[in-house]
Amino acid sequence: MKYVCCLTLILVFGSAFISRPSLEVHQQPAVKASMDRGKTIYLQRCMACHQVDGSGVPRLNPPLDGASTVKGNDKLKLVRIIIKGMTDRVEIDGEYYDNNMSANPDLTDTQIADVLTYIRNNWSNKASVVTAAEVKAARAKIK
Ligand code: HEC
Repeated sequence: MKYVCCLTLILVFGSAFISRPSLEVHQQPAVKASMDRGKTIYLQRCMACHQVDGSGVPRLNPPLDGASTVKGNDKLKLVRIIIKGMTDRVEIDGEYYDNNMSANPDLTDTQIADVLTYIRNNWSNKASVVTAAEVKAARAKIK
């Protein structure tokens, strides 16, 4: 009995030390799968304007690499931009961009979560993942 308890403790604490804390967020299997799906969506739908390296096109399309909104905590704003697109000429990190961003009303909650998780954790960006549940909750607030 003592032996079993000891073994259990070793397994529980041992696995906590060996696996979880050493993995960076984007290396966790579920997050990596989401990033991979998000990359495919990015290449199909976003790359033409924001470029493969996320640097955008001066005065036309804003960079996503290093962008404060992309890395920020306002996930509702990010979900709205993906679903509705963006046509208002507003200041983004000190610059203005003349192009309009297309709307993506056909993307599912999971697809939006994947592409947002990808842009928030690719290039130099490091931010929390976006889940399908978060997108669902945000979508309900967007008209
Ligand atoms: C047709 C070109 C185009 C495509 C395609 C496009 N975007 Fe955009 N995107 C823009 C432009 C232009 C803006 C800024 C619009 C403005 O200033 O009103 C923008 C803004 C954004 C912003 C806000 C940036 C910030 O820092 O505030 C995000 C996030 C974004 N796009 C992500 C995406 C994602 C993800 C995709 C693919 C699903 C995508 N875009 C597809 C042109 C595009």
